[in-house]
Amino acid sequence: MTKIAPSILSADFNRLGEQIAILENEGADYLHIDVMDGAFVPNISFGIPVVRSIRKNTGMFFDVHLMINEPVRYIRDFAEAGADLICVHYEACSNIIGTLEEIKSHGKKCGVAIKPGTPVELLTPFITMPDLILVMSVEPGFGGQKLNHNVFERVKAVRQMLDESGGKAEIEVDGGVTEDNIAELAAAGVDVIVTGSAAFKEPISESLKRLREKIDK
Ligand code: DX5
Ligand code: ZN
Repeated sequence: MTKIAPSILSADFNRLGEQIAILENEGADYLHIDVMDGAFVPNISFGIPVVRSIRKNTGMFFDVHLMINEPVRYIRDFAEAGADLICVHYEACSNIIGTLEEIKSHGKKCGVAIKPGTPVELLTPFITMPDLILVMSVEPGFGGQKLNHNVFERVKAVRQMLDESGGKAEIEVDGGVTEDNIAELAAAGVDVIVTGSAAFKEPISESLKRLREKIDK
């Protein structure tokens, strides 16, 4: 079954714990946590103390999407703060294999993300390593953008690469997901669908239910 991963980038940070509890009660599968450094992407979000703090009150699976340069420097910190999966950008790592190994060495699942313009073939040398491949459907940095339709052919290509290599990664799509396109993404074989602004539209429980209904049809 397709998983839904609400992104807290769209949360009301004054009510963050309360909103996460609603998502958890509604059965959201992963909690997607967008960390931005103002260098790899032109925006700054939040970091390690926020992850540590929300970890205290929820058992949700933390899918931490690091949009930071040379994330290998901070893997230990995010692992100790409570991440379950740490996803790094291919474009941000001078040593992607070493970075994925560092994540695994802390007993966490590892993911690799690619921006819409990064050729999927670049994943080939290490395609069997990650637990998750995040195919971005917007340029990373901001919520509320429009989905880039090239994501459909890119997901198909990644699926083929996984099938041919025996790789077991889940395929995740992130950016511009709406009630109008979520069913198409699920039908295209996406395993995990991130949703920021669409999931956090109040009332959150209703928004999440509607998104879920679209893919369970
Ligand atoms: C963008 C982030 C996304 C963002 C998605 O850089 O990685 O996770 O929160 O937001 P929406 O769903 O509003 O496009
Ligand atoms: Zn994200």
